[in-house]
Amino acid sequence: MSQRIALVTGAMGGLGTAICQEFAKAGHKVVAAYHPEFDKPDEWTKDMVAAGFKDFIIVAGDIASIDSCAAMVAEAEAKAGGPIDILVNNAGITRDRMFAKLELAQWDAVISTNLTSLFNMTKQVSAKMAERGWGRIINMSSMNGVKGQAGQSNYAAAKAGVIGFTKSLAQELASKGVTVNAVAPGYVGTKMVMAIREDVLKGIVDAIPMKRLCKPEEIGGICAYLASDISAYMTGATLNINGGSYYQ
Ligand code: CAA
Repeated sequence: MSQRIALVTGAMGGLGTAICQEFAKAGHKVVAAYHPEFDKPDEWTKDMVAAGFKDFIIVAGDIASIDSCAAMVAEAEAKAGGPIDILVNNAGITRDRMFAKLELAQWDAVISTNLTSLFNMTKQVSAKMAERGWGRIINMSSMNGVKGQAGQSNYAAAKAGVIGFTKSLAQELASKGVTVNAVAPGYVGTKMVMAIREDVLKGIVDAIPMKRLCKPEEIGGICAYLASDISAYMTGATLNINGGSYYQ
């Protein structure tokens, strides 16, 4: 089997970095997609080389724009030398605010970056995966998309939408060798979570049965499993990785 090509969006964030590293360890060729305004590709690449990961291919684009996604995937495939076998829709943002104060721009930003982006990116790869008879699509949801969270009506709506999209596309592609799954992490020790006000974050950690944040590699490892051949019978699933936090 030739080396598989994986594209990870939001690759230079905490979760994305861990996913890229776990994929590299699994032997995949990794394309790290970043946003030209928010990320620092030179710094990130230097850190990756220092950590022993010297083969990451990088591409820039805006996942909220379908034209940008088309150009980015074309560039990724040209640089990697083949079509994308594994897509991780990982990039996401928060604009946390109680609904009473939430503005339409904050709603729109989160829905387009965290949900419409799945349409924009998946459109570029899913039909070709089905034609080739093998593919893996992994969508980053969130515990807060499953349970809801005060201050996150926009984010939780997008992340719940990710689960509906995942289950539906999984059914459409089930007979084609392409699996579609969602990962729903609890609070992971990344910049996004560290930006939560200290007293609020303390309350969050106290409520987690394991009394700690998730490590990024604990999500990266799950993504590596979902991207592998051995996960072939799992599709349409949402994997909850949250230190025992269930609120149903
Ligand atoms: N449930 C119900 N009401 C709540 C509440 C809760 N959990 N938390 C706060 N409130 C109420 C407060 O009691 C307060 O009410 P009054 O005005 O009547 O006193 C009101 O909401 C305002 O609360 P704050 O003082 O907290 O308001 P703020 O404007 O300073 O902060 C906020 C609002 C930014 C949303 C802040 O509460 C916050 O950061 N909350 C955490 C949101 C969160 O969990 N984000 C996750 C980010 S990480 C992530 O998203 C990754 C992932 O996938 C898990």
